[in-house]
Amino acid sequence: MHGITIVRLSPESDHVATVASWTYAEWGHLNPGYTADTWREAFRRECGEGGVPSVFVAMQGDQPVGTAALLAEDMDSRRELTPWLASVFVLPEWRGQGIASTLIRRVEEEAVACGVRRFYLFTPDQQALYRRLGWRDHEELRYRGEDVTIMLRRLET
Ligand SMILES: CC(C)(COP(=O)(O)OP(=O)(O)OC[C@H]1O[C@@H](n2cnc3c(N)ncnc32)[C@H](O)[C@@H]1OP(=O)(O)O)[C@@H](O)C(=O)NCCC(=O)NCCS
Repeated sequence: MHGITIVRLSPESDHVATVASWTYAEWGHLNPGYTADTWREAFRRECGEGGVPSVFVAMQGDQPVGTAALLAEDMDSRRELTPWLASVFVLPEWRGQGIASTLIRRVEEEAVACGVRRFYLFTPDQQALYRRLGWRDHEELRYRGEDVTIMLRRLET
């Protein structure tokens, strides 16, 4: 974590294309309606100025190394749940240093600041990471061909 700073990603930033390319490589196949270009432009629209939606990046100097977002919607089959912690990703060579945990805390702070008391995420395989950060299992379901857990975080406001 030495030298890492967490910043809000603005829609005009040159880093939008870089960070969108990571999340497209990781999750684009689960969303077959998108091309790399339409994915990037949808991602750009998530880069709000505060509250929901917001995107944060972990920076090492002037290079982005990780990201996490606060979004209104992340799961077609659970549209009644909102908002969501989404798009948590750290470049492979930067993992295991607490960068994702710090990004998740930043998204939680943003949620608290805009009055959110409960928010959600879903994950196929990172339950342990989120449980350590205070998230609780909410529901198990099959989503786009994967077994996933919806997790819930209750926030003090
Ligand atoms: C999941 C992911 C975001 C985790 O990122 P990360 O920055 O490595 O996460 P953290 O460092 O905060 O925590 C991960 C591990 O490092 C450990 N860790 C945390 N702080 C640490 C530190 N200061 N020093 C050493 N290890 C540390 C944690 O205990 C945790 O251990 P684990 O391997 O048993 O889970 C990353 O692996 C990734 O991008 N994966 C692909 C995308 C993905 O699956 N995203 C989640 C979708 S739900």
